[in-house]
Amino acid sequence: VALTATVEIHRTSSEEQTIALGERLARGLDPGAVVVLSGDLGAGKTTLAKGIAKGLGADPEEVTSPTFTLIHEYGRPPKVYHVDLYRIEDARQAARLGLEELYAGGAVVLVEWGERFPEVLPAERVEIHLERDGDQGRLIRVRKAS
Ligand SMILES: Nc1ncnc2c1ncn2[C@@H]1O[C@H](COP(=O)(O)OP(=O)(O)OP(=O)(O)O)[C@@H](O)[C@H]1O
Ligand SMILES: [Mg+2]
Repeated sequence: VALTATVEIHRTSSEEQTIALGERLARGLDPGAVVVLSGDLGAGKTTLAKGIAKGLGADPEEVTSPTFTLIHEYGRPPKVYHVDLYRIEDARQAARLGLEELYAGGAVVLVEWGERFPEVLPAERVEIHLERDGDQGRLIRVRKAS
């Protein structure tokens, strides 16, 4: 666990703004960064992940929800992986995904619902929490080790 961290708070008021925020956040990510996206169902995790992937140069057409694929890979190097742990039931199943291999490859790895299985996350990670604030509003907190 990092001793110091910086926290940024952003607000968006549409899906488009959240995608644009993701594109901006992508510029601040180091190669190999692991980003954990947390927040309730429909908070906007996948939407923000799309923006981040887009900002890293992934083809927007390729950026879809990984709900049924668990791990979705897109883009030329630097590659982006988008992982969703929502349907993972226990630590054993989480371990079997072999996420360490993804982390080791230098790609940015976006992990939705990652907070459910901290044991498969690296200690150094960017944590993004999304909360609804009204219908279209979202409060987006970004915590980075510094
Ligand atoms: N400001 C906003 N930012 C992001 N999404 C928004 C915003 N306002 C409304 N929405 C809507 O909220 C929904 C967010 O869906 P999304 O799939 O990104 O959520 P999620 O957190 O990934 O959900 P799940 O936990 O089911 O995976 C979309 O339907 C989107 O259009
Ligand atoms: Mg999602």
